[in-house]
Amino acid sequence: MTSNLTAPMDLEESLSNLRRQTGEAVAAASTVDELAGVEASSVGRESPIAAARRGLGKMPAEERRDAGRLINEVAKELESLIARRRGELALEERNAAIEAEAIDVTVDYMELAAGRLHVIQQVMDEVCDIFIGLGYHIAEGPEAELAWYNFDALNTPPDHPGRLESDTMYVDYGKPEDEMLLRAHTSPIQARYMEQNDPPVYIVAPGRAYRNDTIDASHLPVFHQIEGLAVDNSITFSDLKGTLAEFARQFFGPETTVRMRPHYFPFTEPSAEMDVSCFNCDGGESSCRVCKGVGWLEMLGCGMVDPNVFAAVNYDPNEVTGFAFGMGVERLAMVRHGIDSIRHFIDNDVRFLNQFPG
Ligand code: DAH
Repeated sequence: MTSNLTAPMDLEESLSNLRRQTGEAVAAASTVDELAGVEASSVGRESPIAAARRGLGKMPAEERRDAGRLINEVAKELESLIARRRGELALEERNAAIEAEAIDVTVDYMELAAGRLHVIQQVMDEVCDIFIGLGYHIAEGPEAELAWYNFDALNTPPDHPGRLESDTMYVDYGKPEDEMLLRAHTSPIQARYMEQNDPPVYIVAPGRAYRNDTIDASHLPVFHQIEGLAVDNSITFSDLKGTLAEFARQFFGPETTVRMRPHYFPFTEPSAEMDVSCFNCDGGESSCRVCKGVGWLEMLGCGMVDPNVFAAVNYDPNEVTGFAFGMGVERLAMVRHGIDSIRHFIDNDVRFLNQFPG
């Protein structure tokens, strides 16, 4: 730093240079390691301060004391400057390390969109729950079904027009007893269940059904039904009506009433279609968008189990009577929610589906 620190003026000047340079270097040091370098070259063993101390011995005795004090003062000042800066840098480095290693527990987790049940499944669950509340059990059956269960056991003989290929979806023609199709309704579950279980029977059977239909606003080739069957030793038509009226009140609202219209199904005799009073206009407002002014909404098919069905599953028609019903789940959902096209259920448009959070 300076050639001769032993002459008093030189000493003062060079110490003040050292002070200034060291001050700048200390301020510029950005790590503890860098600062250690500054320390070594300013107050360390090879530093100008050390050299100045060594030079004291060669000084005239009268100058030595003052020079020594001056060197010590500067050395102390620089040491404390370095010490303060070391504290600052150490803190900065520690904070940076903590920050770098830290796991931020407040950071947002990756938000996974929660799935929800399709509105059709929701309606199916709701209907099943109502019947469970009435003492029914849930039954199921295969979707690829033997023609025997889909038709024959249900009093629908081989020459019945409903068996035609144009109405159904066969997967196997083969021999008559092997004939298989995608079930055209959930009614075969009735036959399967009775075959396996003795009366009394109180079941609902939800599931998919398949028809050879082209998609339009009211048809899907794959849709859902809920089948119902009650068999006991004294079941009457009023049990049928009372049960379905209770279902309608729970599903559509307590003011709902029902009416039966004569109809035909092969597996029930007598058979009926059931209407529910319009929950929207409460009976025939001409402008009602739900019932179109009719006041009634067609809801389901039902009837008293035909004795031939009992015979097909080895139940004694003289011992038991029963009622059965079948409803379309898409139809229930459309009426309940005012949905104008059955296509919405399969479009998978979240703007539609999100309207049914369940
Ligand atoms: N299986 C009929 C259909 O798909 C619905 C039906 C009507 C079911 C009357 C029944 C019933 O159990 O008794 O159209």
